[in-house]
Amino acid sequence: MTFANRLAATAAALTLVAGLGLGAAPAQAAPVTAPAMPATALPGTALPAQVPASSAVVSTARKPAPRIPRNPRKADVLVNRNYPLVPKGFTPRLVRVPGTSFRLQAPAATAYRTMVAAARKDGVRIRLTSAYRSYATQRSLMTSYTRAYGSRYARSVVAPAGTSEHQTGLAVDVGAPRSWMARHAATYGFILRYPKGQERVTGYRYEPWHYRYLGPAAAKRYTASKARTLEAYYRATSRPAAPKAAASKQATRRTTANVNLRRGAGTSHRIITTVRRGSTVRLTGQRSGVWNQVRYGSRTGWMSSRYLR
Ligand code: DAL
Ligand code: ZN
Repeated sequence: MTFANRLAATAAALTLVAGLGLGAAPAQAAPVTAPAMPATALPGTALPAQVPASSAVVSTARKPAPRIPRNPRKADVLVNRNYPLVPKGFTPRLVRVPGTSFRLQAPAATAYRTMVAAARKDGVRIRLTSAYRSYATQRSLMTSYTRAYGSRYARSVVAPAGTSEHQTGLAVDVGAPRSWMARHAATYGFILRYPKGQERVTGYRYEPWHYRYLGPAAAKRYTASKARTLEAYYRATSRPAAPKAAASKQATRRTTANVNLRRGAGTSHRIITTVRRGSTVRLTGQRSGVWNQVRYGSRTGWMSSRYLR
């Protein structure tokens, strides 16, 4: 199931989707000057994170770590859990992406538009499904996902508010076809930000739809470096947030009947599976009336406390 599909899976999330795309007119419509990329801001190559101690005594010692760009008004910024936005409620100057209800920083919007036009010439239609998201929107998204799927899954697909690239106005989520994007996006300054197999580095599941505007020159250097993540490129980290202390002491319960595990709190929600009587489930701490959110194996869902002891 894709991120977008999951998003559509709960009523709460549906409300949110409407909120994502149909925001008010931009407070700042003036274009932002394309940021100059300092030559020293980016490393020429991605070097291994660790170099044997012996290399310190030979002339091939690794280059000093590059400065990690933190200015979210510039396209080279690194934003992740370890490098949050400062201030955390940062709002960029935004322009509307023509033909959509989404907003981006001006250079990203212009590049996106050029890229869409080029794709169209190849007979490919790129669709924008998300772009700028405010701190508040990102927080609601996290709350909604946590309620629906539990915090562990939510944290693997949604950035905590104040740490999302979407809040910079430099990230886009695109609909199919993604193969054209995979081949051509870097030409227009966009890079695939959460690649397959890099989940432990980025801290997020594979997101074939999430592209980040880095600027054409930097995207070219990034591609040439063969780094597979922006973290590797900058030699930075994005560690998953440590589970809350309470989470490790989660209570368990036993089912007193064969009981349905549902997508939401109430019998109107779809059944994920039926849990056999006498099974152990783990409470996540989320409650809604008599309904408890529980983990059963690798699944998270809701069940009535009437059948738990
Ligand atoms: N889905 C990405 C990680 C975000 O929420 O920013
Ligand atoms: Zn995204």
